[in-house]
Amino acid sequence: MLQKKTVIITGASSGLGASLAVAFAEMGANLVLFSRNQERLEEVQSLCHGLGDRPIIVTGDVTKPDDCERLITSAISQFGTLDYLVTSAGVSMWAKFENIRDVTVFNKIMKTNYLGTVHCVYYALPYLRRNQGMIVAISSIQGKIGVPFHTGYTASKHAIQGFFASLRAELTENDIDILIVTPHWLRGTKLRENAFGKDGNVIGVSSRKHSQESISLQECSQAILDAINKRKKELMIPPKLKILPWLNLINPKIVDFLVKQKMLEQDSE
Ligand SMILES: NC(=O)c1ccc[n+]([C@@H]2O[C@H](COP(=O)([O-])OP(=O)(O)OC[C@H]3O[C@@H](n4cnc5c(N)ncnc54)[C@H](OP(=O)(O)O)[C@@H]3O)[C@@H](O)[C@H]2O)c1
Repeated sequence: MLQKKTVIITGASSGLGASLAVAFAEMGANLVLFSRNQERLEEVQSLCHGLGDRPIIVTGDVTKPDDCERLITSAISQFGTLDYLVTSAGVSMWAKFENIRDVTVFNKIMKTNYLGTVHCVYYALPYLRRNQGMIVAISSIQGKIGVPFHTGYTASKHAIQGFFASLRAELTENDIDILIVTPHWLRGTKLRENAFGKDGNVIGVSSRKHSQESISLQECSQAILDAINKRKKELMIPPKLKILPWLNLINPKIVDFLVKQKMLEQDSE
């Protein structure tokens, strides 16, 4: 189904984006890998083996609309069409709101996670439409509930959910599909070490203790490919996460308590 389909992946240099690149390549897709770091993209490119053409690399920054436009035009000039846009580029934070000393952290996170997604969708939409293509938006369970130490990140993921919910409502039958992916913690990514701390700088170290309940990148990528094949609209990984938004409506106190316990186990502030 993905053979020779053109797939753009933002945030392809690391973590989930890199894992998805390998998985899509194995299915024979023609890939366009995008992030700011050329060297790391080349490493991922060398791991992509499949029946599709050799992946192309486009370096750029999702916060810059011109870079996102160049990403889409590069994909079209190389492969002629666009079938899938996977928006995985993202940054996080780890700081209690009242301890934050540099409030511009909120701008940086919103510009990458939310506006970065909007920029890519804006330029990709006309091409995706021609092929009844699909947007695969990487959100987070933090797009559905509140999570301490993550005010800015959680807000950006809620913004993504709201944006796509409204965009979906504008689409007509036989238009593009939108799959919103809502994962729990993933292991093997750089999200935590690249997260902004209270001083506005990247934390740079990661002391994760959640390997017991986190999901592997392979498991997450496979679940995403399955959801794409079934043209699903929502994917929560693991499926037991589905209970949280419901429980949050019925008894937010319980959700707050459970989430706070989990986050305090991880807190290194
Ligand atoms: N890790 C988790 O537990 C988890 C859980 C739920 C959802 N997610 C979501 O999964 C997605 C992927 O994150 P990850 O965990 O795989 O983290 P990661 O390993 O840190 O990867 C983040 C990717 O985003 C790219 N990126 C960051 N800022 C960018 C910018 N301004 N322009 C272009 N690319 C940019 C990075 O590439 P460059 O640095 O090369 O630009 C990198 O390829 C994110 O949307 C994240 O919110 C992660």
